Amino acid sequence: MGGGIAQVAAFSGLDVVLRDISAENLQKGRAQIEKSLRKVIEKSEAQDKPALFDQTLERIDWTTDWADMEGCDLVVEAVFENLEIKSSVFQELDRVCGPQTILASNTSSISITKLARTTRRPEKVIGMHFMNPVPLMKLVEIVRGVLTSQETYEQTRDLASAVGKTPVEVKDFPGFISNRILMPMVNEAVFALMEGVADAESIDQVMKLGMNHPMGPLRLADLIGLDVCLDIMNVLFDGFKDSKYRPCPLLVNMVDAGLLGRKGGRGFYDYRDAK
Ligand code: 3HC
Repeated sequence: MGGGIAQVAAFSGLDVVLRDISAENLQKGRAQIEKSLRKVIEKSEAQDKPALFDQTLERIDWTTDWADMEGCDLVVEAVFENLEIKSSVFQELDRVCGPQTILASNTSSISITKLARTTRRPEKVIGMHFMNPVPLMKLVEIVRGVLTSQETYEQTRDLASAVGKTPVEVKDFPGFISNRILMPMVNEAVFALMEGVADAESIDQVMKLGMNHPMGPLRLADLIGLDVCLDIMNVLFDGFKDSKYRPCPLLVNMVDAGLLGRKGGRGFYDYRDAK
């Protein structure tokens, strides 16, 4: 998702620094951005499409060095859904970035208030939750932590609009709004599959044709990543202490087996032969 966020920011005319932990990851990210950008520009009404493609890519600096983030006005963190890893990234950003820098997290469910506490600038920490695939989805949930200042909220909301997204303000509760509603539906679909109520294709067909969802919940889970879905269910379960959020054992088994969805080639569907 970090690549998608960098892409929409650069496409909107902003200068972007994209940091990852290795040159290899940066290369993969660049390939993903180029592929997606080509599609987006192909559909646009731009007069000079090759120039727009080049200009967008030129706005991105690729780095593995924390120090390059120093001058950024706003940083969006998009690492794994793990509080410890995210906290260490926030501490590093707090160290290298100037005092005015807003530190935003693209977390899908981890507490912004907790992340803010790991920094010396909790009033400048906020959630900026993009949706997958970032270049196509309009929504950004803007998540206010307990100590997020009004100024930080307004600047982040305006930035989301400036990159062509529609910001929606939500408070810092487990799963925010998007995943609090989406993930129990996905989890319930996995329960239905486990109980043999219907096969994966049929479950997805019901939600596509019956409810006009663009893709069924199991295919969507594959797109999001089954590990991410499980992490989010665990955050809901731990946060609300309510058994209605217990992750389906089949979801747990699939993650244990390394069947993580599209990114790994197999999930509820098999993508290994897909072009
Ligand atoms: N970048 C640019 N273009 C892309 C793209 C990308 N990453 N992915 C797909 N496209 C293009 C395709 O090339 C295609 O273009 P074409 O019409 O010219 O061929 C077009 O988008 C439509 O794609 P597809 O034909 O492959 O498939 P769909 O019509 O089903 O659309 C979809 C794909 C937009 C992903 C649609 O299925 C959809 O909206 N699905 C639901 C997505 C969703 O719910 N996202 C939220 C997930 S929750 C989340 O992210 C929160 C997190 O915390 C878990």
